[in-house]
Amino acid sequence: MINELYTPRQIELRERARDLAENVMRPVAAKYDVEQTYPWEVQKAIKEAGLSGVWIPEEYGGLGGGVLDLCVVVEEFSRACGGMGVGYAVNALGSFPILVGGTDDQKERWLPPIAAGEKLIAFGLSEKEAGSDAGSMTTRAERDGDFYVLNGEKKWNTGGAVASFNTIFAVTQPDRGARGISGIVVEEGTPGYRVGKHEDKMGIRCVPVVELHFEDCRVPAENLLGGTEGRGFKHAMMTLDRARPGVAAQAVGLAQGALDLAIEYTHKRQQFGQSISSFQGVQWMLADMATQIEAARQLVHASARTIDSGHKNITKISAMGKLMATDVAMKVTTEAVQLFGGYGYCKDYPAEKYMRDAKITQIYEGTNQIQRLVIARNLLREAAGGTD
Ligand code: CAA
Repeated sequence: MINELYTPRQIELRERARDLAENVMRPVAAKYDVEQTYPWEVQKAIKEAGLSGVWIPEEYGGLGGGVLDLCVVVEEFSRACGGMGVGYAVNALGSFPILVGGTDDQKERWLPPIAAGEKLIAFGLSEKEAGSDAGSMTTRAERDGDFYVLNGEKKWNTGGAVASFNTIFAVTQPDRGARGISGIVVEEGTPGYRVGKHEDKMGIRCVPVVELHFEDCRVPAENLLGGTEGRGFKHAMMTLDRARPGVAAQAVGLAQGALDLAIEYTHKRQQFGQSISSFQGVQWMLADMATQIEAARQLVHASARTIDSGHKNITKISAMGKLMATDVAMKVTTEAVQLFGGYGYCKDYPAEKYMRDAKITQIYEGTNQIQRLVIARNLLREAAGGTD
């Protein structure tokens, strides 16, 4: 990061996040990857470092930072462990619907405990048959007096098993398509709300990705985001616009972490009587990796700055940052494994973990095929006379 491009507070946040990443996350990253359990000690350290609510406004107990501040922190965490990076970022994903669509009372109720690191939150949009086509979800929320009765299932809910709050999108008006979807915050312990299968994953293994089941789950009607039915799909899309830079920052952190390892290893590794980093072929690989990472970082930060500026069209640049950074992460982490040779393919070194962790960034919060679709739709709309 070029310090001159950032505020003193962003630089301080980066230092605080790096310190935590190096001293708390990196030493236990391999252990939680093997165990596939949630690192509560890391969560406690994030809370104690005062980094839990970076993106939450000060009036709700957060640091009042923007998406760029969030990206700076997520990149540092992910440089040490991609799973811990997303375990943190998913709280922004879960709370953005409250920020973009919640009433003042709802913000007052749910944001302060998240900002304080006392409660975690997740985001439930996808279902078994509704992934990329999020609008085709079938989980139903039917009004019954002062309650909504939820029935259905959610899939790939990141962090859901450890979250106290879960922002769930469900159909309230079945005849209205995407305009009949509403966001409802479901609290842990609500009867009829059950965490189901824990996925056994390729990467980001320290963060639980789970199925959620709703069986006649009665949620107080006051938990309907914004207090009006039918706004949920828009809130979900507006959330993804704001959250995708977080995934992109996770990807940049993973790529940077893998490059750091590759530089150190290629410097130490001797073949043909010399350090392999003295070979031009290796140097060119390192140069390409570093250039791609910096290009991705600058685009991701431009997308975050655009969101923080209040610009009205953030969808395209947010998708561009996510697309580019996550493709770079996959490429760079694969090259890092290559540079480690046979050792890179084995668990003796963490290079392979970076590659496993990177893969999901091309898939979640919208596959990169969906990012391309979003970018192209916006391009064509602009060409047809819409504004940039
Ligand atoms: N902001 C505001 N409103 C938006 C919007 C945006 N970015 N994008 C769409 N909308 C609105 C549209 O204006 C439209 O509103 P009207 O009905 O009032 O006209 C409505 O939403 C429907 O829009 P579309 O017709 O464009 O919807 P679509 O069905 O064609 O789908 C899509 C659009 C972009 C493909 C969307 O379904 C999508 O983003 N899919 C990917 C889903 C996704 O990213 N899932 C990730 C799950 S979360 C996750 O992965 C988290 C994790 O584990 C960490």
